[in-house]
Amino acid sequence: MTAPVVLMTGSNGEIGRSLLERFHTDGRFRVVSLDLTPLPEKLRPYCEATYTGNILDRYLLDQIAAHHEIEVVFHLAALLSSRGERDPELAHQINVEGTLHLMRMAQAQTQRLGRPVRFLFPSSIAVYGVGDLDAKRRYGRIAEDQGCEPITMYGCNKLYCEHLGRYFTKYYRSLGGGSGQPKVDFRALRFPGLISADTVPSGGTSDFGPEMLHAAAQGKPYACFVGPEARIPFMAMPDAVRALLGLLDAPAEQLTRASYNVGAFSLSARDIEGRVRRAFPVAEVSYAPEPTRARIVDSWPEDLDDAAARADWGWRPLYDADRAFDEYLLPAVRARYSH
Ligand code: SER
Repeated sequence: MTAPVVLMTGSNGEIGRSLLERFHTDGRFRVVSLDLTPLPEKLRPYCEATYTGNILDRYLLDQIAAHHEIEVVFHLAALLSSRGERDPELAHQINVEGTLHLMRMAQAQTQRLGRPVRFLFPSSIAVYGVGDLDAKRRYGRIAEDQGCEPITMYGCNKLYCEHLGRYFTKYYRSLGGGSGQPKVDFRALRFPGLISADTVPSGGTSDFGPEMLHAAAQGKPYACFVGPEARIPFMAMPDAVRALLGLLDAPAEQLTRASYNVGAFSLSARDIEGRVRRAFPVAEVSYAPEPTRARIVDSWPEDLDDAAARADWGWRPLYDADRAFDEYLLPAVRARYSH
């Protein structure tokens, strides 16, 4: 039997590249990739087909759907939170209209196949807006239904798209005596800031973590754009990939929500600096907080309560802060920049 087809948007991004490696290793899917920028040579053979283009291009999406029998969508393409504040309307177009196009395509595909296409969507800590630092401390580990008052366009977009996904899964064309046609099976994860040993993200606000690490490993000075006390949850990329696959494989009847928090560990900028300095004693780290980005980080929770994900589909992170740095990030970035 041939492997099912997965469509991956944002395949050239931070999560996309790691997921491509994973699918290549386990051979579980034939990947159709879509990104604004061409995939590196190394990753192209990992895909059955690669498309370079914009998710706002509906004709391109129609063409992809006509050529491939897509059973699963990983919709990873997005314009992240810092970049989004520079151009909020563009963020809305990409993050909301682009997602709507993909959901429409997945819905059409669902009807064609006669069974639900699974639609995996990385959401974010950015859906939260905790108010002020006192409230942030009081919330501690925040649960999915608390503090959802995002202060960034990106956060608003992700929160809305979670609702859009829930709508497509449960209600699309079914109100007012509509048909019993099969519906998309949408599943979202609210990720903390992700840290990968292989890529440095761009345009995000949690980027201070990965940027500090990668700069130190390359012997470059780093001026951190938030203050030393700024604290948010983080997760090592291998756990992010495991979380996506864990949610993908969860039986639909076990899921009680459309969107789940997944947590791993919580660190301040100073904590990350400490870990980086222990590994690279000559690292030059300074602090030059940018007001907009510092405010965004202050609005995000310091940790995530992922009890629902643990109970419903058995989520457990494998990497706490020590393991993430000592067994994954530090050895891998050392190797990466040593030649
Ligand atoms: N890492 C993202 C950002 O910083 C949050 O999802 O925008």
